[in-house]
Amino acid sequence: METNPPKRRDNKKSLRVKVISLGNAEVGKSCIIKRYCEKRFVPKYLATIGIDYGVTKVQVRDREIKVNIFDMAGHPFFYEVRNEFYKDSQGVLLVYDVGLRESFDALDSWLGEMKQEMGSQANMDSIVFVVCANKVDLTKRRVVDEGEGRLWAESRGFHYFETSAQSGEGINEMFQAFFSSITDMCENGGKRPVSEVSVGFTKEQADTIRRIRNSKDSWDMLGVKPGATREEVNKAYRKLAVLLHPDKCVAPGSEDAFKAVGFLLGLTCSVRHLLLHISSL
Ligand code: GTP
Ligand code: MG
Repeated sequence: METNPPKRRDNKKSLRVKVISLGNAEVGKSCIIKRYCEKRFVPKYLATIGIDYGVTKVQVRDREIKVNIFDMAGHPFFYEVRNEFYKDSQGVLLVYDVGLRESFDALDSWLGEMKQEMGSQANMDSIVFVVCANKVDLTKRRVVDEGEGRLWAESRGFHYFETSAQSGEGINEMFQAFFSSITDMCENGGKRPVSEVSVGFTKEQADTIRRIRNSKDSWDMLGVKPGATREEVNKAYRKLAVLLHPDKCVAPGSEDAFKAVGFLLGLTCSVRHLLLHISSL
């Protein structure tokens, strides 16, 4: 007599994860979380005092994930409170306001503050980071464009999303990718899956493109001191050409940066020719 084998229950165990939000005061961290959890937007600014804590449940594939959200205050005044809460995080929302360049420039110091509390880079490598370029609804006041934000994020192996807590744009997609990556990481023994950190270009390439985009003058663009010798200029150019050549660099913005440096060198050569020509007259 044949018997049916007992049905196996394939539902995997539920997961409990901790995520935190980081970024300057007023960039919209609390509003992003509120938009996702409560489906509403609060136009009035209510600064977070220290930390706000909340719990939500989400379903990722066949797992139930219980998410503990620690929404940090961005104001420097709350550093002492914040630093207690970095440890044991599996995910970080790094938020900046696309209309405030200083909030974008501050992302490095937010990572620095966190690393200091986490103790080592190795501890940072087992965390999923999502960069939220927030307030994209305010198009007229935008000063940090998508290319720049994406480059900063992806060169570090972080996700990048354009979001608006006001309109809801990008919020669900961002959280879905965030929780799905955290689940992948937990299933991968606590390591960020390799596919997420390999973007085909290096941090040095990304940082160089960023420096060229934001350069104040030609010296700055080449990364040499004002009044550098011709030899130093040529050396710097050769280094940039190797780093950013379109055959070697796939980072967004590399082509424009390569052209800008090439144009600059062309201009320098023309001026030099002109000076030689004048001096020979
Ligand atoms: P702290 O708690 O002080 O660190 O600030 P926060 O980053 O949590 O900022 P919060 O979410 O409180 O938002 C600050 C202000 O920006 C509020 O007035 C929000 O209404 C507004 N705001 C947040 N997100 C958006 C957005 O996407 N678009 C627009 N237009 N305003 C936003
Ligand atoms: Mg807040």
